[in-house]
Amino acid sequence: MSSLPADPYRVLADNSLHSPLPLGTNASDENPDGKLPAVSIRELKKSYVLKSETVHALRGVSFDVPEGDYVAIMGPSGSGKSTLLNLLGCLDKPTSGNFFLGRDDVSTMSDDELAEIRSRRIGFVFQSYNLIQQYTVVENIQVPLYYQGRLGQAEKERAIELARMVGLGERLDHRPMQLSGGQQQRVAIARSMMNDPYFILADEATGNLDSVTTEEILNLFDTLNTQGRTIIMVTHEDEVAARARRIVRLADGLLSSDRINSEESRAEARRRQHENILALAQRKL
Ligand SMILES: Nc1ncnc2c1ncn2[C@@H]1O[C@H](COP(=O)(O)OP(=O)(O)OP(=O)(O)O)[C@@H](O)[C@H]1O
Ligand SMILES: [Mg+2]
Repeated sequence: MSSLPADPYRVLADNSLHSPLPLGTNASDENPDGKLPAVSIRELKKSYVLKSETVHALRGVSFDVPEGDYVAIMGPSGSGKSTLLNLLGCLDKPTSGNFFLGRDDVSTMSDDELAEIRSRRIGFVFQSYNLIQQYTVVENIQVPLYYQGRLGQAEKERAIELARMVGLGERLDHRPMQLSGGQQQRVAIARSMMNDPYFILADEATGNLDSVTTEEILNLFDTLNTQGRTIIMVTHEDEVAARARRIVRLADGLLSSDRINSEESRAEARRRQHENILALAQRKL
């Protein structure tokens, strides 16, 4: 299930009321060679203190996500996936442990700094798209910039370019209501790219989509990842996770396995899904 706040881009808006601290850089400034830094978490713990008890949702999780990786996070209900996603998305703070984005230790940051990181450096894609209904495709794609007051012709052109990249070049002035679910998710993916984020955090991004549209969206993630974009997704579906480069599993607040999907197995998953769709289409005829 979708686990982050219902509309994280509104969370961004609320946080933009605080004056963002000048981190002064964005990813490309920091890396003259154009490389985005890796995500690194160390002994990350998160406990929720309730009236009568403390819930240890994450009990010391460590792993690295190298630049360009594509990770699926899986695990049974209650294993800590949402908790981890909230931490990776800078929407919550760990109880202890470290979380590095490049050389920045996010775990020690103030709320304002977290808001800044969130709006500038992380792209979110959600099960329910979270588009603004009154806005057009191009306006929705630019939403992450509204909160930074960065809106000019160059930004609009970049939004149009992203709309084209996700196959919506002919739908620039459509509003979400006039789009299919898959098209709306494409807008959300384009929006997540607007800030040239360190990584895309996708929470059950295909959870609302039929198998044909799921395939389209997963193909789009493949394309982005092939271009070097780092993707971290939470999914309950084995067939979705099979498309990632790597599957990290949580159990009871701990990392229970961390496996690479071979290129052959990924290609096999792609082929299998495509065949299932063709078989489905045959049955409908
Ligand atoms: N805000 C909270 N306050 C108290 N306990 C919480 C809170 N959020 C999560 N928990 C607890 O932490 C543990 C991990 O929850 P989490 O939501 O991260 O699991 P999950 O893997 O996302 O599960 P699901 O697949 O059902 O979404 C659970 O025991 C849950 O009850
Ligand atoms: Mg969850």
